[in-house]
This record gives sequence, structure tokens and C-alpha cells, in this order.
Amino acid sequence: MAELDIAWVREQFSLPENIAFFDNAGGSFTLNRVIDRVAEYMRETPVQLGARHRLSVQASDRLQQATADLAAMIGAQPDEVVIGPASSSLTDRLARAMRGQLRTGDRIIVTQFDHESNISPWLRLADHGVEIVIWELNQSTGQVELDDLEALLTERTRLLACTHCTNITGDPVAIGDIRRLTKQAGCQLMVDGVAYAPHRQVNMAELDVDYYVISLYKVFGPHIGLLYGKREALDRLDNINLAHMSRGDVPYKLQPGGTCYELLYGAAGIAHYLQELGSGNLGEAFSLITKYEEQLTRQFLNAMNDTDFIVHGSAGDNPQRLPIMSFHHPKLSSVSICEQLDRHNIAAKHGHFHARRLIQRYGLDPNDGVVRVSLAHYNTSEEVERLIEKLKEVATLP
Ligand SMILES: Cc1ncc(COP(=O)(O)O)c(C=O)c1O
Repeated sequence: MAELDIAWVREQFSLPENIAFFDNAGGSFTLNRVIDRVAEYMRETPVQLGARHRLSVQASDRLQQATADLAAMIGAQPDEVVIGPASSSLTDRLARAMRGQLRTGDRIIVTQFDHESNISPWLRLADHGVEIVIWELNQSTGQVELDDLEALLTERTRLLACTHCTNITGDPVAIGDIRRLTKQAGCQLMVDGVAYAPHRQVNMAELDVDYYVISLYKVFGPHIGLLYGKREALDRLDNINLAHMSRGDVPYKLQPGGTCYELLYGAAGIAHYLQELGSGNLGEAFSLITKYEEQLTRQFLNAMNDTDFIVHGSAGDNPQRLPIMSFHHPKLSSVSICEQLDRHNIAAKHGHFHARRLIQRYGLDPNDGVVRVSLAHYNTSEEVERLIEKLKEVATLP
């Protein structure tokens, strides 16, 4: 099987010279081609859309093509894509736009292990008479168990909002099984793919979920978010934009203030990069990424077995695990570990990462939280080795 050409991959980014960057789940570095496309759009077509002059027509064509390229990247149709400033704001818009189809006593399920951006907007629907229940980690196993979800699904359950992978442990959630359960219960499924999408291929037609959100700035692109919705699901949503728009105005009814055109145009560079990486085959690109990331993940987790650091999530040998790894030390604060790492040109972050409920479930002070090291496929085995070495040094400091 072919190997990832790491030298070529690194050339595609402007990575910092001396810093080993391990906060990729916070925001990845941007592809050079994305940056170039943003500049190209701003230089050549910074004009109002919808006019008959040729610059406006060119701008519209560019955005249409960019949307089509991004849709193809996730196995969706262009009219199933809504663009917004970030995943949090898109999820918030989705929750507001669902009000028209919810009745008093309807139930929405959120999880204890999601980023708050896929919890808070749903909690606010309680003000409209919706009952919100929380799917928690299993009391005895400490893991995500489908039986617990099954017990929460009722006839009145209208939606489950669930992550595809936690942004703390890198453990993927079995969305296929969850989809089956929610379908049986006649309830919609909104998936937060923010932590998952930078690492594994996502195909909306196969996943068969109703909604799926991705932060493109964590997938090597600019700071915008993408919300996928099945066309019939988007059609049912309320208009939250200008009053003269109607339900059929997809995606405009969900994009108040429009979108950031140059960033949307730039973001298509992600799709082009993945195509090139996989020699024209997206599946191949993600096979290369998966294999490469699995090696680095194993390298790190195996080394952590011999230390006092407590790694959260499933056992280190879970092959499904994505390269997002969080740990704490029984005697050292997470913030001090990150400060020490920075002295050695290693960038990692501490805290709760807005998955506050999960961090509290682990019994940790959310302000100090965990140290999270999250990799991208441009990280190298040498960088991981440096990280391990420095962590071991930090743990033995007097
Ligand atoms: C799993 C997950 N979901 C949602 C978000 C929120 O994304 P955004 O910053 O695009 O609102 C984040 C951000 O870190 C995340 O990690």
C-alpha cells in the first residue's frame, strides 16, 4: 500500500520552522493554495453578486463551483450545503430554524461528551417547551454505550444532537448504529463532525444523517463552517433571514448577512488538495492519512503507557482512535505542562475545550482541564518523539 509523501504534504503548508504544532483540533494550519485563492478572489472579484456585469457573473460562477467542490468532498449535493462563520453559529441557526416544527413536550437529546456548541443551542429550546435530556457516559463502563441512548429515545423524540468524535479523547462514536436507532425512533440526527472530518473521509450519502457540521478552519481551510443538511430537512426549516425570503430559499434563508465569499472560494482549495493527495481519488487520500495518523497515534499512546500521565478515553490500542489525545498528570497542573512544552517549542493546549461536561465527568477542574495534543497528517514521527521526550522530562522536574 502507498505511503503518505510527508515531504510533499509539508510543502503544501506554511508550517512554522521550529515549532512542533500539536493544537490542530483547535485550528489547523492553512493550505497555501487556500491562502492563494482567498487573495485571488479579493484581488479579482470583490464585487456584489447578482448583477449582469461580467465581474459579478464571474464571482457567482466561482462561488457556485467552490460550493460544488466542497459538496463533492463530503458526498453531498451543492444545494445541501450552508456556509457560515463557524460550526457554533451554524448549529445555533439550525436550532432556531427548527422551532416551527417543534411542539411543547417534544424531546431533544444532547450528549455529555459533545462540544458545548452542539448542546447549548438545543438547551435554549427548553424556553419553547421542548424537553431536553442528556445522554451521559455509562455509569459503570465510563464509555459511550448505545443501550443508554436507546433508553432515552421516545415517540416524542424529534432530534439527537451528537458528535462523530469527541474533541477530547479522539474516540469516534458509532454514527452508523446511532443512525439506525434514531431512524427506528423516527427522530432526526444532527452530527458534529468537527473533530472527525480532518482525519477521516465523510460521505453524507453513506452516513445518511440529517445534518452534519464541519469547521473548515480545522480541515486546513479558512475560518468558516459548513453545515450539511438533507435537502428535504433543509426545506422544512424556518426562514431566519430577511422577511421576504421563504422556506424554499435554501441556503439563503439560513445565511443571514450572507457568507464570506473570499473564504468560501478559498475553502475549495481543501477539496483540490485532497484530490491531488489521492491522485484523483478522495478515498485514497484518506487511506493515506488514516494509515499515517494511526502510526503517530500508536507511537504517542504506547509511550504514554510508561509514564504517570493519565490518558483519557478508550484503551490505547483502540485502532479506531483519532489522533486527538488528552491527559492529565496527578501532580502537575495542565497549564504548567503546556508552559513547559512551549519553552521547548512545542505547542499544545490545556483546558476544557468547551467539552466542559466531559471534563467534569472525569472529575477534573475544567479551568485547568487536560493537556490535549492533537495531530494533523503534516506532523512527523520526529515531532511526536520530541513531544514524548519533553513530556517525560517535564514529569520528572523537581
Ligand atoms: C468537536 C467540536 N465541535 C464544535 C466546535 C466549534 O467549532 P467552531 O469554532 O467552528 O464554532 C469545536 C471547536 O473547537 C469542536 O472541537
